[in-house]
Amino acid sequence: MRTLLIVYHTMTGGSRQMADAAQRGASEHEVDVRLIQARDAKAEDLLGADGYVFVTPENLAAMSGVMKDFFDRTFYAVLDRIIGRPYATLVCAGSDGQNAVRQIDRICTGWRLKRISEPLIVCTHAQTPEKILAQKTIAADDLQRCEEIGAAIAAGLAMGIF
Ligand SMILES: Cc1cc2nc3c(=O)[nH]c(=O)nc-3n(C[C@H](O)[C@H](O)[C@H](O)COP(=O)(O)O)c2cc1C
Repeated sequence: MRTLLIVYHTMTGGSRQMADAAQRGASEHEVDVRLIQARDAKAEDLLGADGYVFVTPENLAAMSGVMKDFFDRTFYAVLDRIIGRPYATLVCAGSDGQNAVRQIDRICTGWRLKRISEPLIVCTHAQTPEKILAQKTIAADDLQRCEEIGAAIAAGLAMGIF
């Protein structure tokens, strides 16, 4: 059975709900789905998987520091060893999210991965410090989109399309 690795970081819960939704969607297909927090994810996890979903908040116009640390720790250890594998990106943002997407795309271009869907940005519309620091609840239709992306990448892996 092929393996889909979902790597995520979250501060206020939104990205975790999105990662869980992607896992639910992926689990509808004949793949082994591994959900790992960015701080625990290692190069071996990337090497041992056939496709990836990266899920991060956007913080200070960038992917979160913990997510960046994951890429920093693993980038050169897997360079040239995961070429052509599929990936998708989910970003939980207050109001933007584009830079986090750009950063992840750039790293994945370096790895020569294949993006299999448009990146999904979910905006929580938190604008004040209180709302930004509060736990998030992601709307059902946004979670549905995350499920669909998880299902799509898993289906492609299961059918041998990717
Ligand atoms: C320090 C900090 C910086 C942030 N900077 C941005 C930003 O640049 N762009 C944006 O759209 N949202 C920004 N946000 C809002 C978060 O992306 C938003 O709260 C999101 O729901 C966080 O995801 P999480 O619930 O998975 O932690 C920031 C939040 C924090 C705490």
